[in-house]
Amino acid sequence: MGKDVIVACDFAGAAQTFAFLDRFTEEKPFVKIGMELFYAEGPDVVRQIKARGHKIFLDLKLHDIPNTVKKAMAVLSGLDVDICNLHAAGTEAMMRAALEGLTRPDGTRPLLIAVTQLTSTDQEAMERDLLIRDPIADVVLHYAENAKKAGLDGVVCSPLEAEKVHDHCGKDFLTVTPGVRFADGDVGDQKRVMTPAEAKRIGSDYIVVGRPITAAADPVAAYERCVNEFVG
Ligand code: C5P
Repeated sequence: MGKDVIVACDFAGAAQTFAFLDRFTEEKPFVKIGMELFYAEGPDVVRQIKARGHKIFLDLKLHDIPNTVKKAMAVLSGLDVDICNLHAAGTEAMMRAALEGLTRPDGTRPLLIAVTQLTSTDQEAMERDLLIRDPIADVVLHYAENAKKAGLDGVVCSPLEAEKVHDHCGKDFLTVTPGVRFADGDVGDQKRVMTPAEAKRIGSDYIVVGRPITAAADPVAAYERCVNEFVG
């Protein structure tokens, strides 16, 4: 898979999601399904979106004991999604177990990427609540290295971290980056943002874009603008 724009379908239900996807008559955007939609509609919504021809990043951020994550990943693997994820904080052992669970009998599997430190966690919260005293940038790189050691394909990270992750873990280690906004768009609740063109320049492999597309007056035009800026 090459560089691509992943549209975050943060809708509450299948009806809104399909109404949104119906607007795309030519392209079949890569779609991110998160916890809200998955918990509301269950695995059927994944199968239906897949059947419409979309690639799917199933963003469920698993984090549990290795055996439980392994079994859960085996179930997700059966849904034929393209990318799954988990929390690197679950340890290298958990990530290895997840990979095992995800791998089908024929050796194929969806890509597996790790969440490092959530961008909603800042240095202060990390020290106070998690008792992690290292600089957050080092923590992100350490988690990325653990994910690589465990055999994962990449990480979800801020676009501002993507360059360093590539420096540490190699150019082939995927960086999937949310927090993307058009230069003339609303930042909303995102704190540190980049435009699609900047994300391309710093080497993000995939950008995850939600409201700049889903809340646009013309979502298809916004998606195309994003693809043009990011993929070129
Ligand atoms: O609407 P917006 O473009 O901000 O959506 C970004 C998407 O990426 C949302 O689904 C959000 O949950 C997700 N995300 C994020 N920051 C992270 C991890 C995931 O914005 N660190």
